[in-house]
Amino acid sequence: MEVPTKKRILVTGGAGYIGSNTTLQLLDAGYDVVVVDNLSRGHRGAVDPERLRVVNLLDTDGLVKVMNEAPCEAVIHFAAYIAVGESMKIPEVYFLNNVAGSLSLLTAMVRVGIGKLVFSSTAAVYGMPERVPIAETAPYAPVNAYGESKVMVEKLLHWFDQIHGLRSICLRYFNAAGADPAGRAGESHEPETHLIPLLFRAIRTGVPVTLYGDDYDTPDGTCIRDYIHVTDLAGAHMLAVEALSAGSPSRKFNAGTGRGFSVREVLTAVQDVTGSAVPHQIGPRREGDPPMLVADSGRLQEDLGWVPRYSDIRTIVETGWRWEVEGLRG
Ligand SMILES: NC(=O)c1ccc[n+]([C@@H]2O[C@H](COP(=O)([O-])OP(=O)(O)OC[C@H]3O[C@@H](n4cnc5c(N)ncnc54)[C@H](O)[C@@H]3O)[C@@H](O)[C@H]2O)c1
Repeated sequence: MEVPTKKRILVTGGAGYIGSNTTLQLLDAGYDVVVVDNLSRGHRGAVDPERLRVVNLLDTDGLVKVMNEAPCEAVIHFAAYIAVGESMKIPEVYFLNNVAGSLSLLTAMVRVGIGKLVFSSTAAVYGMPERVPIAETAPYAPVNAYGESKVMVEKLLHWFDQIHGLRSICLRYFNAAGADPAGRAGESHEPETHLIPLLFRAIRTGVPVTLYGDDYDTPDGTCIRDYIHVTDLAGAHMLAVEALSAGSPSRKFNAGTGRGFSVREVLTAVQDVTGSAVPHQIGPRREGDPPMLVADSGRLQEDLGWVPRYSDIRTIVETGWRWEVEGLRG
């Protein structure tokens, strides 16, 4: 996809996992990119130093300064804290960073006159869904403070559209996984809470990873999740930016593949790809873990023309493992 005139995109959280992968894809497509990140959870080495502005989302004046110095077409907003368990211990930190931080960003955008935003939302806005695959029309029902923080931002976006004409596309991600197929960026969270990097970590350290529950009402008893390759997810952001530039009204899309894999199936794929046994133990269920979370991704495919290319479980694990073994950490 070629960008005719070099449009600039401001990416918040671009030093993190999905933000760094999306930044690379934007640059590959010919966009100019400026990254805002306070490096609280990201990695300095994940961003070209010339593009990085170390600013906290809560610093509205700092954001305005960046936006004035580097005028941009749209904002892609990844920056947030993302650990569900942590959000249930320190909800005040999550609401401050994720909700007040987003409010500060929207305030800066209105002050400068930027009217388009793509927002990283999550399947956690649905909580324990009544129907699977989950459609975008399912009600908000978050069961943790992290999910609630994303619902609150989606609601802020509604009012900023109504009152200020700021249009947004919310992408509700399911489980982002894998790494850049060219090996330039990948996943590295601290604390790490995601299954695939935890399985890799168990192989590297020999310390068993705990799998939470094998007595769910699923074919093999373990939870089923919808894994979307980070490169396919980055592609969805590009399509969302293009849609907003073409005049799309505010929309919400699930970003998943519509195909679920159980924890055991993922573990088997990791063992096949790496050729190593994964030391693991079965622990009790985690409170608030739905047995099955799978997206109805029809809207994203039909309305934005999104086509997943890398989201088969083998490619996810192969690219992720390559990053685990060879990736650079900044
Ligand atoms: N990883 C997933 O599977 C997943 C699933 C659903 C939704 N999401 C959402 O996607 C987004 C990106 O997730 P990720 O996995 O790349 O996370 P990440 O932790 O790797 O990246 C987040 C980045 O935001 C930065 N950041 C956090 N608070 C900030 C602040 N106040 N000011 C400036 N920068 C700040 C961090 O330093 C980090 O670089 C998040 O909004 C997350 O809620 C992720």
